[in-house]
Amino acid sequence: MQFTTLLNISIPMIQAPMAGVQNWRLAAAATNAGILGSIPCGMLSKEQVVAEIEHFKAYASGPYNLNFFCHEMPELDPYQQDKWKKKLASYYDELELTPSDDMGILRRPFDREMAEAIAPYKPPVISFHFGLPDTELVEFVKSWGTTILSSATTLEEGIWLAENGADIVIAQGIEAGGHRATFTETKLESQLHTRQLVTILADALSVPVVAAGGIASHHDVTMMHELGACGTQIGTCFLLCDEASTSLVHRDALKSLAEPSAVTNVFSGRPARGIENRLMIDLNFINEDVPTFPYASAALTPLRAAAEKQGCGDFSPLWAGVNRQGCMEVSTQEMVEHLWNVK
Ligand SMILES: Cc1cc2nc3c(=O)[nH]c(=O)nc-3n(C[C@H](O)[C@H](O)[C@H](O)COP(=O)(O)O)c2cc1C
Repeated sequence: MQFTTLLNISIPMIQAPMAGVQNWRLAAAATNAGILGSIPCGMLSKEQVVAEIEHFKAYASGPYNLNFFCHEMPELDPYQQDKWKKKLASYYDELELTPSDDMGILRRPFDREMAEAIAPYKPPVISFHFGLPDTELVEFVKSWGTTILSSATTLEEGIWLAENGADIVIAQGIEAGGHRATFTETKLESQLHTRQLVTILADALSVPVVAAGGIASHHDVTMMHELGACGTQIGTCFLLCDEASTSLVHRDALKSLAEPSAVTNVFSGRPARGIENRLMIDLNFINEDVPTFPYASAALTPLRAAAEKQGCGDFSPLWAGVNRQGCMEVSTQEMVEHLWNVK
């Protein structure tokens, strides 16, 4: 089946799910523009996910992609938390804040309860990050007729995803903004550029492959199709769009181009790409004392909030891919037309 027919879209492009910077508004605008709009659900309760679906359906009539994380949820380790708080103590002093044990909103994996809550909607598409949920849940989701997507950062991950229920595999190159989708023991240094990953996955897999990472122009989109991709998934380019809820400090950093992007684990415990800032540099980008994902973010939330109030992004995860040249302050519709070269 044709890729666009499979996803019920007219342009073979996916607006990447981006937790923390968008909701149904961007997704609805993307779907209305002819691509697949995505709703990031990794940090939402089941009631919030249902509300997102309802809002989306009120504003768009086409398909949508619900995006969930599917990491292992480890026990909270008080020793790790203690060490982490000590590492952040000087920043708490500087901003005159008192540390607390509040875990706030954590990234939670997709589970049976969430699946039951969304089952009545039979979502057309669900994408997972960090692998796939267990077989029983994958089968439950498939019983709704839902198309399943997941991201691979290596050839081995791509093969595993295709063999374990992914109908479409997203080739997430090292250029991509946000969390690396990696779910196997893979060294960051050995991860491939989008071009290389698309080529080897398109060659090896019988399911459609979507290119993601650093795609910022119509030329980039065309090149990915020439390399064998059936579609593209684009995130960073949409961050300045009118319908995104990207914060002011994040928008300023995206526009300035002064700092490069880098991969760091300091904001969550897992490697992710964002614009370089003070916390990343101070803690040397990849730091062994950072609590296991997803527990690192809790102690950073008050620092981030206090600094952002002063217009400062020192403690904010400024997720972005390597290529910010394509970011524009336009509507999502205009961005899609620009990327697909609609005359
Ligand atoms: C701000 C931001 C947040 C992201 N959050 C998510 C997320 O919640 N779930 C997910 O599967 N991918 C997330 N990603 C990764 C995207 O799915 C995609 O791989 C990436 O945006 C592609 O690279 P690009 O940003 O260079 O276009 C995020 C990316 C960015 C830039």
